[in-house]
Amino acid sequence: MSVNRYTDDDFDYGYDIDDLDIDGDGQAEEHDKEMPRRPVKKRRRVKWDNIIILLTIVALSVLLVLLIRSFMNEQKDNNESLPAAASTADPQPTVSDKPQVQTTDESKMTEITTGNEPEPPKPAFPVETDITVVDGVTYINGILIINKTYGVPESYDPGVDPTAEAKLQEMYAAAADEGIILWTASGYRTYDYQKNLYDDYVARDGKEAADTYSARPGFSEHESGLTFDVCDPSSSFDNTKEAEWLKEHCAEYGFIIRYPEGKEDITGFMYESWHVRYVGEELAKIIMENDICLEEYFGITSEYADD
Ligand code: DAL
Ligand code: ZN
Repeated sequence: MSVNRYTDDDFDYGYDIDDLDIDGDGQAEEHDKEMPRRPVKKRRRVKWDNIIILLTIVALSVLLVLLIRSFMNEQKDNNESLPAAASTADPQPTVSDKPQVQTTDESKMTEITTGNEPEPPKPAFPVETDITVVDGVTYINGILIINKTYGVPESYDPGVDPTAEAKLQEMYAAAADEGIILWTASGYRTYDYQKNLYDDYVARDGKEAADTYSARPGFSEHESGLTFDVCDPSSSFDNTKEAEWLKEHCAEYGFIIRYPEGKEDITGFMYESWHVRYVGEELAKIIMENDICLEEYFGITSEYADD
């Protein structure tokens, strides 16, 4: 129960309470100044404590609302990130589950990459060729060619090529310096010489067998003057130290092993470890270092027309 602790002097009523004539008798009423009285115009004291409590409640309410909203958003995010397998609904493919999309993208990337890539290098062999025929003799890029496809006329009689002969002797001298004795078993042959040789082989072994190791007249490199059989012209020469030296060093002097091992189907002849052909040092080194034959270098055949 509150007690009025104020006196009349504490209030400004706009008049003196002691002058009030309430009953209209012209006399101011008596009143007990000791009795509590209600002021005509009540003035409230500001309750700062209540205001602070009220503001605190409002602030806590706002904070609570924010916390609830934050929690609900977090729950929503967790549900969206659940793997498809955890859902009872049909799994929906994600972007990464769509291989067709990736394939399309990769194809585009490949196309773009391919467009930016430099042209792949062309194979070194066969080389581009310029074929000319002079008096029935075929030259490819300036190199005289004689094989089963490209023959020479019966009248062709050049004799031994002096450059080839000189290089051959130089090679022999170099081999001799290393203790390797090389010599020529067969060099230049005329058309008639080759005909007699071939006919003898056909008589002995038959045409089919002879064609594997002896050229028909007009189709032997020996008729060019650029070819030599070194030492023993037979398979017994294979793998000798002379044959190994010849194979290793012949290109240094412009020669190639004309019928290499493993190239029989291309050259048309059996492996001849003793048969060398002069083509010049530059071409000889390319052919020998790349383990190819002359036909592979030029991309030409070696087949008799009537076979
Ligand atoms: N021995 C080789 C192929 C020739 O007769 O010319
Ligand atoms: Zn030969």
